[in-house]
Amino acid sequence: MADHVLAIDQGTTSTRAIVFDQGGTIVSVAQREHEQIMPHAGWVEHDPVEIWTNTEWVTSAALARAGLGAMDVAGIGVTNQRETAMVWDRRTGHPVHNALVWQDTRTQPRIDELVAVGGGGVDRFADVTGLPLATYFSASKVAWILENVDGARAAAEAGDLLFGTPDTWIVWNLTGGRRGGIHITDVTNASRTLLMDLRTLDWSDELLGVWGIPRAMMPDIRSSSEVYGEAALPGAADGLPIAGILGDQQAATFGQAAFDAGESKNTYGTGNFLLVNTGTDIVRSGNGLITTVAYRCGDEPARYALEGSIAVTGSLVQWLRDNLGIIQRSEEIETLAASVEDNGGAYFVPAFSGLFAPYWRPDARGALVGLTRFVNKAHIARAALESTGFQTRDVVEAVVADTGRALDEIRVDGGMTRDKVLMQFQADILGIPVIRPKVVETTALGAAYAAGLATGVWASRDDLRAHWKEDVRFEPRMPEAEREQRYGQWKKAVSKSLDWVD
Ligand code: G3P
Repeated sequence: MADHVLAIDQGTTSTRAIVFDQGGTIVSVAQREHEQIMPHAGWVEHDPVEIWTNTEWVTSAALARAGLGAMDVAGIGVTNQRETAMVWDRRTGHPVHNALVWQDTRTQPRIDELVAVGGGGVDRFADVTGLPLATYFSASKVAWILENVDGARAAAEAGDLLFGTPDTWIVWNLTGGRRGGIHITDVTNASRTLLMDLRTLDWSDELLGVWGIPRAMMPDIRSSSEVYGEAALPGAADGLPIAGILGDQQAATFGQAAFDAGESKNTYGTGNFLLVNTGTDIVRSGNGLITTVAYRCGDEPARYALEGSIAVTGSLVQWLRDNLGIIQRSEEIETLAASVEDNGGAYFVPAFSGLFAPYWRPDARGALVGLTRFVNKAHIARAALESTGFQTRDVVEAVVADTGRALDEIRVDGGMTRDKVLMQFQADILGIPVIRPKVVETTALGAAYAAGLATGVWASRDDLRAHWKEDVRFEPRMPEAEREQRYGQWKKAVSKSLDWVD
């Protein structure tokens, strides 16, 4: 019986396929990392062909490991790193350039030009898009490719080039690629491009004009949960309906069953992303959060969210591993950090791509402050973990200021939530309980939910709520005075990281 769902999660560091059963339990997983290509400081690229090859491999491997065939699987849900921009030739299927990843800051000069003219500063297009002008979003990346790849603009204008975020690339390839692949994205991914009007849920002609991006290369914007088409792949996935697409942070929100206004989640991945569902209201932030689409099921009205996006959290742990070598494997950071009582006075602001929410300061750079001869690598490991907790407190403060309501607790997910030192510190520095659910793979689960709703595996979102189960709860233990003193030190450290670039 077709009561399983396959989720493909195309993330910043790896691509995974996970098979879920009707109870929302993981049946099998397959995963492959891809290369992080960094040709210059601030440039981050991925090879779309490598990503597609990995997607094919993990899809077949997850189905094989589950011992399932096409008859057992109702559909495929796709979720992805958002904003990352890919451009390819529809006739050959070849990318014209590597993908420009969401962390890539090469387009800052173009952003500065647009900020300087037209009034409104970084918020010039915020009313239409919900987003500040920043390198983070897709628009400036697509424009860069069109300007810097020989012949790309003419080919795009002739209708030969296609743009997409990784969901678009995967669905196009899954459905046949140059032999009739469908060219689509969903509302959540489209809301991250700086090109979609949040109210109409369509591409804005004004913004396409500002960036010089031909409409012919833009995918159709669809809902997050509907049957879009069928996989056309040799092997077990052939013929399976593709029935869900969500950007990864929206998928995690869906997977945490935060379907209604006021519900929220915080995901700890390469970066951290806190989303608060605002229902059918488009809420504007006065405190550095962005407005985004949370999800849209079929023809229902879209649901929106406020989001606090933090660029560097888990990737700081990778940096300690790869660039400093103070740990061999990412998990070792917990033991190293736990070997000391506190941060020894050290504060680490990992502003490697500038600072995102709530500061939006591209000119910020990483800062490690408060050093004395006493500080050792364990203190630095601890300061690195604490930076994730402090940055989360920054965005929670913004949420409280925007909504006028304190959070009673926070639901968390993602790889770093296995780290008990970090989770306890998070509860301590926020002063509220931090709750981790049984399934922490909520990103893939959310994509599976979207596909399963569209294919009849689950009848309604209420059905899905019943799957959510609390696993561990971290209660705050730090005295109030210490919490505020430490947070004050953090804010001071942030001020040191600002205005670094001339
Ligand atoms: O906005 C970027 C975000 O979607 C990346 O998520 O999990 O790949 O770090 P992740």
